[in-house]
Amino acid sequence: MAALTDRFGRVHDYLRISVTDRCNLRCLYCMPEEGVKFEPAENLLSYDQITEIVRVGAKLGITKLRITGGEPLVRPGLADLIGQLSSIPGIRDISLTTNGVLLADQAEGLRAAGLNRVNISLDTLDPTRFKFIARRGDLQRVMQGIEAAAKVGFAPIKLNCVLLKGVNEDEIASFLKMAAEQPLHVRFIEYMPIGHADDNWRNHYLPLSRVLEIASEIGLGVEPISDVLGNGPSEDYRIAGGKGTFGLIHPISDQFCKRCNRLRLTADGSIKPCLYWVDELNVKPALGSPDELEKLFLRAMDIKPLNHEMAEKLAGDAQSHEPTTRRMSQIG
Ligand code: GTP
Ligand code: 5AD
Ligand code: SF4
Repeated sequence: MAALTDRFGRVHDYLRISVTDRCNLRCLYCMPEEGVKFEPAENLLSYDQITEIVRVGAKLGITKLRITGGEPLVRPGLADLIGQLSSIPGIRDISLTTNGVLLADQAEGLRAAGLNRVNISLDTLDPTRFKFIARRGDLQRVMQGIEAAAKVGFAPIKLNCVLLKGVNEDEIASFLKMAAEQPLHVRFIEYMPIGHADDNWRNHYLPLSRVLEIASEIGLGVEPISDVLGNGPSEDYRIAGGKGTFGLIHPISDQFCKRCNRLRLTADGSIKPCLYWVDELNVKPALGSPDELEKLFLRAMDIKPLNHEMAEKLAGDAQSHEPTTRRMSQIG
């Protein structure tokens, strides 16, 4: 049996590593406009400490890494970390989730350091709307980042589009056409209440069944596929005659927790077995001891819950356990 198998038989081979909780945008589904309380730099794991933790994870069966944030590209010298991680025996896929704003400048260095793939957030194709959703930055920089990613050879390039009712649902058709016309993988994501369950997220929640309805309305033939390179929960589709593909990530309307394969390492040094719940294990006291770090990875398997309660919350029938108070930007 694989070392990182949890109580429900799920095997874990994917570690998401957050390198910072800071971000140069303030997307309305993620952070309040004024930001959140950011960790002081001295509380963040150093690149050497992250590498030490991943070495232990790799011995236990972690083969795939994703670098996340906040926005990972705001942390200086990220290519150095990629270089360190790519030389760890057993690690065979390193990818990055970014908002793309700083990607044009860094794509080449990251590729040279051993990064395999990038997923770039893109919630709108309209520059004015971008200002409304992201509150900072500009769309043109993101588009330049996507172009640079293609130029240096990252593949597949995935675009993460969080669908928000009344905000960008009228762009589903444009995003589908983009996937038909360009060699990109567009992923539509359901808005999730991570760390802010009391906000009015329900008002903006849109189930992804709309995407398939719109594909049919605009005459696109689509069929499910399973050969898009990835480690996450996306359910992927081909478009007849299209150059690209698209995917649906629907944590709420179709819970994918039964296939969960991931652990998370937060920027301030906690292993989080599940995105949704409050439970986490502080790795800092174990640094310097591979045995103690190993125990923490195994403990994460013991405490990992079966699933989240977002669907129940949507139905107004919440369970009792405590959800996390961290936001997505503070988890990764
Ligand atoms: P691939 O390896 O390319 O498949 O990436 P990924 O989908 O694992 O990573 P990415 O950072 O691009 O995440 C995309 C979206 O997946 C996030 O916005 C979340 O909506 C969702 N997601 C990722 N991990 C989890 C998780 O553990 N639980 C839930 N509920 N959603 C998740
Ligand atoms: N719901 C759904 N997706 C989210 N993301 C951030 N916050 C949320 C949320 N509340 C997405 C970002 C990015 C990915 C890492 O997570 O758009 O693409
Ligand atoms: Fe930043 Fe990503 Fe959160 Fe947007 S979703 S504010 S890009 S961390």
